[in-house]
Amino acid sequence: MSHLDNIPSTPGKHKPDKAFRFHSSAASSLSKLTLYSTLFLSVLLIFLLLLSPPSSPPSPRRHLSTGSHHTPLSLSHKLIRKSARPRSTTGHTVLVTGAAGFVGTHVSLALKRRGDGVLGLDNFNHYYDPTLKRARQKILEKAGVFIVEGDINDKGLLQQLFDAVLFTHVMHLAAQAGVRYAMQNPGSYVHSNIAGFVNLLEVSKSANPQPAIIWASSSSVYGLNSKVPFSEKDRTDQPASLYAATKKAGEEIAHTYNHIYGLSITGLRFFTVYGPWGRPDMAYFFFTKDIMKGKTITVYESPDKGSVARDFTYIDDIVKGCLGALDTAKKSTGSGGKKRGPAQLRIFNLGNTSPVPVSRLVSILEKILKVKAKKKVVPLPRNGDVEFTHANITLAMTELGYNPTTDLEAGLKKFVRWYLSFYSGSKKKSSW
Ligand SMILES: *[C@@H]1O[C@H](CO)[C@@H](O)[C@H](O)[C@H]1NC(C)=O
Repeated sequence: MSHLDNIPSTPGKHKPDKAFRFHSSAASSLSKLTLYSTLFLSVLLIFLLLLSPPSSPPSPRRHLSTGSHHTPLSLSHKLIRKSARPRSTTGHTVLVTGAAGFVGTHVSLALKRRGDGVLGLDNFNHYYDPTLKRARQKILEKAGVFIVEGDINDKGLLQQLFDAVLFTHVMHLAAQAGVRYAMQNPGSYVHSNIAGFVNLLEVSKSANPQPAIIWASSSSVYGLNSKVPFSEKDRTDQPASLYAATKKAGEEIAHTYNHIYGLSITGLRFFTVYGPWGRPDMAYFFFTKDIMKGKTITVYESPDKGSVARDFTYIDDIVKGCLGALDTAKKSTGSGGKKRGPAQLRIFNLGNTSPVPVSRLVSILEKILKVKAKKKVVPLPRNGDVEFTHANITLAMTELGYNPTTDLEAGLKKFVRWYLSFYSGSKKKSSW
């Protein structure tokens, strides 16, 4: 409080003006009283003004708001600690980045429900309708998961979170998703998937103890690989999109941080994840929307007139894979930025092992929605999408106990049920 030194400590040090002498003594003492109380109130006001911002710089305080309603720093810290506290001493303490995202929300809920402590981080960007992210946030808040609104590129913010909480794990699901959008906004892929990831690893490697990292890579790293099914050992040096290239870069960056700093890192290559609360930029989502509206949908076929196929993987199966990865992750070996020994480095496919042609996706949706789709079939443009994906999940099955059980028809039924209740306009809350 050194600022206070510049302010007169007592009003008595100020001599009243000479003019006061000509007033009657009663009037004089009244003036003195007015003067002294004015001075006292000014000092009090200045004191309060100096007290109101915390001694830390103002920007982190702004970041620690919850967005929809700005929460003061002290309250945020309370919410942060409460949210991150596991129910029992054996529970994990997990930072989930991208917590208001599709996979992030489901994973956060699953962790919280089984008793782990979860703190969310999300920047609520406008890549797709943020009202969907806010709706997910509401559900997480009800379950006791607090989301800090901020960017993984904000080192000061990450440092504050790591100072407030000793995370045992980081579930890093924040990313710039989408394959075709990379041609419109390449910078956002570099910003989130490369710079943001490095920033998170920097803060994680300096933590003491270091958390174990589990993060979302992508099946898109297989790119033009034509050997099926895709195995973790297959080549991943022919990405077909900038999105894929940034995810591949992430895998190499993970290797570096594991090698130099002893961070335990597990990468998960997700194969076309779908389900309730999914991303509106994905085909199954906007096909549903457009078929219901009677709008023509564009269906791609490969240049040789073959069908474009995807290994669609239901969200609940993916969540089990994520939790399996977290539970089998070994501790990082370094501390405070120093490596103490070799640490675990893993990569797993999380798919469904059954590629489905997009034409079949459309016919399943037609059946569930009881509406015939208006289709326009065009050749797959060379703008990032690959013709097919097909996961070999042997490794995840043996190491993580991963075992997907939902076929596309059953999963899409659940998606459509959620979609209709969420967008029906009724205020009735859809169940999980
Ligand atoms: C699947 O991957 C495993 C290694 O994880 C490998 O041993 C097996 O041969 C692969 N299966 C096929 C059909 O490629």
